Amino acid sequence: MKMRSKTLASGLAICLAMGLLACQPQSSNSSEPETVSKKTSFYELDSTGALIRPTDYRTWVFVGTPVTPNDLNNGKAPFPEFHNVYIDPVSYEHYKATGQWREGTILMKELVSVGTKAAVSGNGYFMGEFIGLEATIKSAKDFPNEPGNWAYFSFTNPETGILAETGNAFEAASCNSCHEGNAQDDFVFTQYYPVLSAAKGYGAGSPENVSRRTAEKKSPSAVAQDQSMDDENDPWMATAPTPELASSDVPVKLDPLFAYLQSGNYRKFKYQESENHPSIGPHTQLGLPVRVYYNETIAKSLLDGQKEHPKGSAVVKEMFDADNILAGWAVMVKTQDTSDGGKGWFWYEGISVSDKTKMAAIGNGVPGCQSCHTIGSDMVRSNVSAIQ
Ligand code: HEC
Ligand code: HEC
Repeated sequence: MKMRSKTLASGLAICLAMGLLACQPQSSNSSEPETVSKKTSFYELDSTGALIRPTDYRTWVFVGTPVTPNDLNNGKAPFPEFHNVYIDPVSYEHYKATGQWREGTILMKELVSVGTKAAVSGNGYFMGEFIGLEATIKSAKDFPNEPGNWAYFSFTNPETGILAETGNAFEAASCNSCHEGNAQDDFVFTQYYPVLSAAKGYGAGSPENVSRRTAEKKSPSAVAQDQSMDDENDPWMATAPTPELASSDVPVKLDPLFAYLQSGNYRKFKYQESENHPSIGPHTQLGLPVRVYYNETIAKSLLDGQKEHPKGSAVVKEMFDADNILAGWAVMVKTQDTSDGGKGWFWYEGISVSDKTKMAAIGNGVPGCQSCHTIGSDMVRSNVSAIQ
């Protein structure tokens, strides 16, 4: 299998080098193109179950390039580079025909640094160097225990700059949970790949040949519908009980918590951001102002670089509307020393400063909150340097 893909790759390279015409006669006489069209598997696992790094993905279907640069993320983006995303051609065809990801779908994400920010065409973000490689595969056969049967891999080594030969699947908490909670189509972020959303269930023919090029305007209710989650698996419901805390700087029961937030006493915390700044999260709305206050327990733990923050750690985030008027609070309180994938955290988000029943979530282990927060320092996303 490995040998065969090597032959294929070098065959293609020869075709490219010789020009397409030169390839045609050779194709009709050799059995190689047969292999190309019959190829259905685009990855291979070694005997330990690790993924052997796929090599020919730049010849697959290219679906898009999201970029989340540092400049737009308070100088410290979780993933500061371009992400060139490719899908294997057979899975693309299957998705176009059926609107589903087939068994064996593989998407590769190649990380490219932000290079120059100016060109003759104007200022912008231009791709620099290749810096990393990740993959995700859906297979019930190979990954029966992964959520959604999607397994996630990385080959990146930022220290040596050498890609690993093989990669092991990450734990579900590192990758699956954010994809499950936020991606539009069965763990895949098709909302950022118009190539895929246009292809979904298109049937025969080529979606790229349609002439209409202006986006349809969706009604606000259609947008809300798209965003609403199914109740059975509501990601905003708590998944663990909130323990009684003998003492806590910030209460973890709704009535005392709301009274505490209304009192504004958290503003006495010594560690706090000095001013409102645009949120890079979804709280109220992307880009609206927020300000974060830390109690002493978590501030010290963050400044010490602790991997897990101790019980009693508490953070309050004020959320403002477009006129800088306080509109609600988001709260995290550690109710035990271990994080336990987020169950050791109490999560609260209230979207009114006068009506305590208006909440996005309350309780321990809220998957919807954790999905974004897992990339933080034991769930804390804010930049610790802001309080130094
Ligand atoms: C905080 C949320 C989050 C976490 C955690 C996360 N991802 Fe993603 N991932 C995204 C977003 C958003 C996209 C699409 C936009 C982009 O690439 O910036 C994406 C895209 C991808 C893609 C391209 C295919 C697709 O599903 O859209 C791959 C492959 C991928 N991520 C791998 C990983 C791996 C491996 C991990 C764990 C080490 C991981 N991701 C963890 C948010 C996340
Ligand atoms: C789509 C991603 C996302 C989701 C979902 C999310 N957050 Fe956040 N959260 C962030 C980001 C990013 C920050 C950093 C500050 C900012 O930019 O607003 C943050 C900051 C916070 C803070 C301040 C402490 C910190 O970690 O920086 C609290 C408290 C908080 N979020 C609570 C919650 C709660 C409760 C939920 C669930 C109801 C939730 N978050 C859901 C992205 C998210």
